[in-house]
Amino acid sequence: MADKKIRDPLDRYYTPESTAIHILKNLDLDAKVFLEPSVGGGAFAKAIRCLFPQAHILGVDLDPDALGLSCCDQQYNQDLLTCDSDLFKDVEAIVGNPPFALALSHIKWLRKNVPQASLHFLLPIQFLASKTRVGWYMEDPPHKVRILSQRIAFTGPTLKGKGTSSQDYAILSWGLGRAEQTVCSWIFPEGLHEEEDPGLLAHLQ
Ligand SMILES: C[S@@+](CC[C@H](N)C(=O)[O-])C[C@H]1O[C@@H](n2cnc3c(N)ncnc32)[C@H](O)[C@@H]1O
Repeated sequence: MADKKIRDPLDRYYTPESTAIHILKNLDLDAKVFLEPSVGGGAFAKAIRCLFPQAHILGVDLDPDALGLSCCDQQYNQDLLTCDSDLFKDVEAIVGNPPFALALSHIKWLRKNVPQASLHFLLPIQFLASKTRVGWYMEDPPHKVRILSQRIAFTGPTLKGKGTSSQDYAILSWGLGRAEQTVCSWIFPEGLHEEEDPGLLAHLQ
């Protein structure tokens, strides 16, 4: 999400690719089949390709112009909430940055329909608050919250130029079953906000 007066109807605020790589390096993932459920420009799908070249990647996006779909081995141009959950039966890890307006419904849907996969979503820290979510957090708290110690400059088709978000972000992670307690840690800024590395990413364009 981004801080603009006119909000993009699909929340097309894309994560910089270098940020996605830095985040993935901090997640200790051990998976072969990944899902990016609102793939957008494909920041996380490309980062997965970089760090796990053998991975099989599934991507979903409601936007037919989401270029990230073409980075995925299986592509679904549809609403995540209408997908057949059988498509995702082999998925081991889900990573991404959901549309903020639908984040809660996407998390609930993925926890229910892809229960075998770990789930890692980039979200504003304020997502941890609010009366509407607190009851649900009691039922299904994240296993880990990793706070980004530097703000993010999102991009996207309706964002003019790059602007750093005025909000702080964290990676909320769920593993198998209900977390007994939520562990909090920090992701330090090395790599965040660096210019995209053309050498690292060139073969993925
Ligand atoms: C905040 S952007 C993030 C894109 C990408 N994951 C990233 O990190 O750059 C949210 C994305 O969700 C997509 N989206 C919005 N509603 C959706 C839905 N109901 N189902 C699937 N994708 C949706 C938008 O088109 C957009 O690409």
